[in-house]
Amino acid sequence: MKVERDEAPNERSGVVSPLRGGVRSVRVAVFGFGGVGRELARLLAFRGGEIERRYGIRFLVVAVADSRGAAVKTEGFTGYELLKLVEAHRGGVSNTPWGRSGWSINEVYDEIVPDIHVEATPPDYSTGEPGLSHAFKAVRKGAHFVTANKAPLALKFWEIMEEASKNDVYVGYKATVMAGTPLVSMLRGLRGYSIRRVEGILNATTNYILSLMEDKLVDLSDAVRIAVNDGVAEPDPRLDLEGWDAAAKIVIIANTLGIRLGLSDVNREPLNASLKDVISAARRGFRLKYLAVLEGDGGGAWVGPGEVPRESFLGMARGVLNAVRIDVGVNVISLSGKGGGVEVTAHALLSDMLEAVRGWLPP
Ligand code: HSE
Repeated sequence: MKVERDEAPNERSGVVSPLRGGVRSVRVAVFGFGGVGRELARLLAFRGGEIERRYGIRFLVVAVADSRGAAVKTEGFTGYELLKLVEAHRGGVSNTPWGRSGWSINEVYDEIVPDIHVEATPPDYSTGEPGLSHAFKAVRKGAHFVTANKAPLALKFWEIMEEASKNDVYVGYKATVMAGTPLVSMLRGLRGYSIRRVEGILNATTNYILSLMEDKLVDLSDAVRIAVNDGVAEPDPRLDLEGWDAAAKIVIIANTLGIRLGLSDVNREPLNASLKDVISAARRGFRLKYLAVLEGDGGGAWVGPGEVPRESFLGMARGVLNAVRIDVGVNVISLSGKGGGVEVTAHALLSDMLEAVRGWLPP
């Protein structure tokens, strides 16, 4: 779908731009129906009407797919039907009345090519799959690609961008870094600035764990257990504790700023802090944080534990908060906010879906 401001009425839906008093229908397929995919479906079920009134865009979810199959309705699921899909057990969308057992991306795309492909499958940083194949399939088929899965962009940022550019489609990834806090939009606003240094706390899980260690005086393994119990850490938090998540995020930040960097270029040290380290830092007026750092001018990137002054901007970001500080020479810009959780991530996806059709929104 090529979106142009002064385009004739949408051939598919027969409606006109809200700028000329009409509503546009936009077909959306959601791949990956775990916490984030479901939260997006719920958000569209409850807020779809409001989005339509405010922006003149009617998002029609035409397919949702999980690891076992898909549910497809070419005219779009109603809000009620979306909520029925959300109620299906994990891996169970193909058991619903619209279900197609064993369907993967190819069968869905043979049936219907969406205007927007939403990727909410889990990341795999060794193969990138299934997100990587999904990204190429979507953009080659002319669908805008909006992703919460970091792996495709952490592994093949420029290949995906080049393919998207060739096919004139948008790639939205606000949900991948500091989801729900518009860091990616801000980075795009820094094009042309020189980048001296980016330093941040980009992983909510390790920040929560380190905050627990300091507040409750528990060791790392107990803090991990509490974080899993509190629903902040994944049952298997290795991607966070080993630094893969933070490394993927600093790679995405670097490439967004035009600094070409791959995942294997990031110096990655796992979270290996002891309670003694945390207490020793506190006694000296510091806090131990899991940091992600990008040095400008080819200085490289690293992620790992590091001390920051307790009262500094990064020192004050606690619990599930993320924070980033960008030194652009003529200015230092700081941003903090929630960095994870299904609600903020689903909102970031929705924001990118609107960005994908920005040609239909007021300038
Ligand atoms: N596991 C990630 C984190 C989720 O803890 O930050 C958000 O990307």
